[in-house]
Amino acid sequence: MIKDVGKFVGQEISLKGWLYNKRSSGKIKFLILRDGSGYLQCVYFKGNVSEETFNTAERIGQESAIEVTGKVRAEERAPGGYELDATGLKVISETHDFPITPKDHGIEFLMDNRHLWLRSSRQVAILKIRHRISKAIRDYFDGHGFTLVDTPILTPAACEGTSTLFETDYFDLGKAYLTQSGQLYAEANAMALGKVYNFGPVFRAEKSKTRRHLTEFWMVEPEVAFADLNDDMDLAEDFLEYVVQSVLSDNLEELKILERDITLLKNVKKPLPRISYDEAVEILHKNGIEFEWGNDLGGTDETVISNQFDRPVMVHRYPSVVKAFYMKRDPENEKLALAVDVLAPEGYGEIIGGSQREDNFDTLLSRIEEHNLPREAFEWYLDLRKYGSVPHSGFGLGLERTVSWICGLDHVRESIPFARMIYRNTP
Ligand code: 4AD
Ligand code: MG
Repeated sequence: MIKDVGKFVGQEISLKGWLYNKRSSGKIKFLILRDGSGYLQCVYFKGNVSEETFNTAERIGQESAIEVTGKVRAEERAPGGYELDATGLKVISETHDFPITPKDHGIEFLMDNRHLWLRSSRQVAILKIRHRISKAIRDYFDGHGFTLVDTPILTPAACEGTSTLFETDYFDLGKAYLTQSGQLYAEANAMALGKVYNFGPVFRAEKSKTRRHLTEFWMVEPEVAFADLNDDMDLAEDFLEYVVQSVLSDNLEELKILERDITLLKNVKKPLPRISYDEAVEILHKNGIEFEWGNDLGGTDETVISNQFDRPVMVHRYPSVVKAFYMKRDPENEKLALAVDVLAPEGYGEIIGGSQREDNFDTLLSRIEEHNLPREAFEWYLDLRKYGSVPHSGFGLGLERTVSWICGLDHVRESIPFARMIYRNTP
């Protein structure tokens, strides 16, 4: 692999990959090889190689699959610090007219050709960071006594409101819905295992066409028994610090390819500021924004609020009318839900949504009725409040919004290999 060439200085090696780019200067051809692990400049001197090899180097187009042979040399000026004094060139498959060239293309063209666009250095950097974030997520919870549980994707009812449900026919049993969140099932698992997390794809029939919304995205959801809202916020800030700092320690090279300014990312350390919804509304008013108490925060509101802080901010105790049925009310003020959203800096908005859950049977039942949810579908969920009910809390972090924020992307569509959005379900 290219990333290991430093171990072979002075030796002859062969490497397989794709032709990323090439340039010539008189009697020299510079072929940039990429293999997913890195980039290597391979130098073909006319005098050192056969005429056939030199002509092949001349002829093959971008994204040809090739095997190069040559001697590794340390070269400060080369990207990566090494170069190959090439002697051999074998063509595995020759390509001409690869549709995506280093010139600028429109975004729709690039999205139509997403299967090929993935090979660009920018997309490779994003996918590596996405992988590192996923790994940090798993490492964090695995290292803090959580058990990974897998929750179903086909479900009998809504969890996050009925307006964004994807519906499908389910044999003789009527309708099934693609899950919007694994939370309710994570709660059942938390009563068995204490601390659990689920991490998988969720679906929302989002009619919004914004740079933050996908219809299919990945969410990680920890759920903890015997935890209140404060414990939930403690967990969220510790977790977020770990995730961001892991990327900063391992992915500086990729962040550089993305030209990401990492000043603000370095600040992502505990404690994160905690403000109430009431305080958030005050901030909006002070900034001349017309906002009525009781509404949900919109994207622009979130940006104004998060601009007041140098790191992510936690907003807690939202009006219960804008939040989900399962959230526990604040005993100090019945109008408020014991909820928390974490807003990322730089206009990236809500990356985490969480809450303490309603643990009283009768209260939960009346919430289900108030929300016109079918009681039969929630009998099992109500059972959790009948048998050994305890205070418990959790949250969900959206992977794509987190990747977009950490990578500094303009739109979530670049944060996942194949984005699903209201106007796109191909390739
Ligand atoms: O705030 P949400 O809707 O919370 C839940 O689903 C809870 N059940 C989580 C829990 O407590 N276990 O979604 C959580 C996060 C959001 O903060 C956001 O990062 C992401 O999921 N998210 C989306 N990401 C991309 N596209 C969308 N359409 C998203 N909707 C939510
Ligand atoms: Mg939310």
